[in-house]
Amino acid sequence: MTAKKSFGDTVVAWQKKHGRHDLPWQNTQDPYAVWLSEIMLQQTQVVTVREYFARFMARFPTVADLAAAHQDEVLGLWSGLGYYSRARNMHRAAQDVVALHRGVFPHSSAALQTLPGIGRSTAAAVASLCFGESIAILDGNVKRVLTRYLGFKGDLASSKVEKELWAIAQTMLPQRDVTNAMPRYTQGVMDLGATVCTPKKPQCAQCPVADACVAKTEGKPENYPVKTRKLKRTSEQLWLLHAITRSGDVWLMQRPQTGVWAGLYCLPVFESFDAMLAALPAKYHSQLQEGGVFKHVLTHKDLHLHPVELKLPTSLKPGAAIGEGQWVAQADWPTLGLPAPIRKLLMA
Ligand code: ADE
Repeated sequence: MTAKKSFGDTVVAWQKKHGRHDLPWQNTQDPYAVWLSEIMLQQTQVVTVREYFARFMARFPTVADLAAAHQDEVLGLWSGLGYYSRARNMHRAAQDVVALHRGVFPHSSAALQTLPGIGRSTAAAVASLCFGESIAILDGNVKRVLTRYLGFKGDLASSKVEKELWAIAQTMLPQRDVTNAMPRYTQGVMDLGATVCTPKKPQCAQCPVADACVAKTEGKPENYPVKTRKLKRTSEQLWLLHAITRSGDVWLMQRPQTGVWAGLYCLPVFESFDAMLAALPAKYHSQLQEGGVFKHVLTHKDLHLHPVELKLPTSLKPGAAIGEGQWVAQADWPTLGLPAPIRKLLMA
């Protein structure tokens, strides 16, 4: 009599037959390529990542190429993917791999986690996919798969509860031919979450572990993961100085390296219309044209953006108190790393 296959071994067998095999970052064990794709996939859909991944790999084929690049170019190439701290951390991590690890990615998930922007799950993904380490991942997709399968009702907003799920996840890994099975398991459990155990209308009839799935037995798999704590959302009003010349040059400044839109190029931002007036010479005050306010939704915050247009000759800095910045030609600003709402405003 053979023992019933474990969750892990079942997922491995399923991945072989029914998982995804043609993603551009699969069929490689180059940790640089896998890491790059995992960072991009953290908050972005596969269809979008495909294009960006190809562009990054073409421009920066190795970690040394990425490390040597200027931050502006990295952010420019990232433009449109959002969550720019990913790009800044990724750039720093590449520089650390070159400076501290002689250009070779560490092989263990523990060592990978010492690099900027590589959390527990991303480290485990790279270590298991590239080096066969027997270590669990737990991203959003996998949390959904495991909480449903286990009927895990804890509140994952609590770090103590999340730790419990991590510990359980580690016990669910494949037991057979572990080093070869791990890359397939990690990919398989992600594939299962993306294609079968979906947030809405999961396809339980296609699921290889449906027999033992508690959520399926209960009848409403969508109830998992259980969410109790609500995120507190805040909102903020910001005034944007849209200084523009006849020839379409715009005045842009680089945002500080921390806070909203860190490191990106942006119109000068003010917390009130009065603050904007205070930064501008009085002779311009009557020329300011307020546009319509528009809303931009960030993860924890709604931004209400108030663009204010000011037409100026190229030779003038908009105001003495505006801070560092420069006129950027119409042909050049589209290549810069710009926050999505600012890009939209400039294109309008
Ligand atoms: N999401 C996160 N990592 C992924 C991967 N390797 N393949 C597909 N989707 C993913």
